[in-house]
Amino acid sequence: MDKFVIQGGRKLGGRVTIGGAKNATLALMPAALLAHGTFRLRNTPVLRDVSTMASLLRTMGVKSEMKEHVLTLDTTGVNKQEAPYEHVKKMRASIYVLGPLLARYGRAKVSLPGGCAWGPRPVNLHIEGMKKLGASVELKRGYIHASAARLTGARIYFDVSSVGATGNVMMAAVLAKGTSLIENAAIEPEITQLAQFLQMMGAKIHGIGTNRLEIEGVDAMHPADVETIPDRIEAGTFLVAGAITRGTIILERVIPEHFSALLTKLEDAGCVVNVGSDTVTLSCPDGMKPVDVTATIYPGFPTDMQAQWIALMAIASGTSVVTDTIYLDRFKHVPELIRLGADIELKENAAFVKGVKLLTGATVMSTDLRASASLILAGLIAEGTTEVLRVYHIDRGYEAIEKKLQALGADIQRVSGEEF
Ligand code: EPZ
Repeated sequence: MDKFVIQGGRKLGGRVTIGGAKNATLALMPAALLAHGTFRLRNTPVLRDVSTMASLLRTMGVKSEMKEHVLTLDTTGVNKQEAPYEHVKKMRASIYVLGPLLARYGRAKVSLPGGCAWGPRPVNLHIEGMKKLGASVELKRGYIHASAARLTGARIYFDVSSVGATGNVMMAAVLAKGTSLIENAAIEPEITQLAQFLQMMGAKIHGIGTNRLEIEGVDAMHPADVETIPDRIEAGTFLVAGAITRGTIILERVIPEHFSALLTKLEDAGCVVNVGSDTVTLSCPDGMKPVDVTATIYPGFPTDMQAQWIALMAIASGTSVVTDTIYLDRFKHVPELIRLGADIELKENAAFVKGVKLLTGATVMSTDLRASASLILAGLIAEGTTEVLRVYHIDRGYEAIEKKLQALGADIQRVSGEEF
C-alpha cells in the first residue's frame, strides 16, 4: 500500500485543471446498460472507482477502453445481469446497475453493499423504488434478487433526498411502460447530468434539475456520447488547499455554480474569490476566520467537503461548528486530525473545532476517501513531516492528487511499499 510523505509549510500557488466528476461517471457508466451499442464518455477521470465500475461492467459482458480520458463502452455483448459481492464491497455505487439491468433485461442479482468506513449505508430507497415500478424483489443470502417482465410507471416519493436512489430509479423508469413521477428527487449536478444523458439516449424526462421528475417510459433507447461535468469536490478540495496554505490558486475547467455554497463560506472565512466562466481564482493571504458550516443536500454545502472544511477550520482564528446532516457519523478524520494537533470535540453529528496556531506533523491513517483528503490538507501546513498511510482511499476519487499538488508547490511524495 502507498503512503504520502508531506513536508508542511509550503504556500501553494498557480493553476490546476480539474478533472471529470467521479460521481457523475459512476452513474453514466451503468446507464449504458440501457441500450446496445457504443458510448463515449469524454472527460472521464482516471480513478480507482472508475476502474472498479469498468471491471464490474466487464463481468456482465460490456467492453470498455479508456484512452486520454475518453471512456468507450460497448454494451452489445452483455450476457450477465449480476453484480457480485467482490465488486460491490469495494464500491457501493455498484448498486447503480440494479435499475438499468431490471429495465433492459428484466432481471438483476446485485449484492447488498456492506457499510463503509463511517457506518451503515442503507439501500432501502433503491429497493422500494424498484418495487413501486412493479419489480419483484427478494433479499437472499446478501443479494438483491429482482425481476420484472416489464416495469410499469409509478409515483415514487423519497422520504430522504437520495442521490443514488434517484439515479437508480430514474434509470429503471425510462424503459417502464407508462409514466413515472419521482418526487423529492435529488438535484445534485451529477444527477442532472445523468438525466440529460438519458434524454440524449432517447428517454423522455421532464423537470430535469428540479426535485420533481416526470418520466414517460419508452420502448427502446440508443447509445449517446457525453462530456462529463467537472468534479465539484475535487475543485473544492484544491480551493481548501490554497486557503489552508494562504496561497493563490486558479482552478481551470470548473462550473463555479456547482460549488457556490463553498465559495461563499470561503469568502466568509476571509478569502478573496474571483469567479470566471470556467475558472475560479482564490487567495487567502491573511489566514482563516472561523466559519460554521452545515453539510446538507445540494445546493447546500456538500457532505463530501465536510472533512476538508474541518481541516481548514483547525487553524482558524477561533471556534467553528461543522455539522453533517447527511451522514451523522462521517467523522473518522477527526481523531487523526487531533493527532496532528487539532483541537476538535465531537458531539453527535457536529464537530466543535477550536482553531490552533500550529499543527505538527505525524503519521496518520486514511480511513475513507474524503478523510484522506482532509489529512493531506492538514499535512500541507503541519510543521515538519506528515505521513498519510493507505492512500488507496484517495486514489478512489482524486486523479494524481500528489502530482497536481506538487505542481502547485507542495512538498508531497508518494512512497510505495507493503508495510504500511
Ligand atoms: C452519493 O452517495 C455520493 N456517491 C456520495 O459521495 C455522497 O456523499 C452522497 O451521494 C451524498 O451527497 C456517489 O454519487 C457515487 P445518498 P449515495 O443516497 O447516493 C440515506 C464521495 O465521497 N439513504 O444521497 O450513497 C443515506 O444513508 C461519496 O464521493 C437511505 O436512508 O448517498 C444518507 O444518509 C461518499 N436509504 C442519505 O440518504 C437509501 O436507500 C443520502 O445518501 C439511500 C440513502
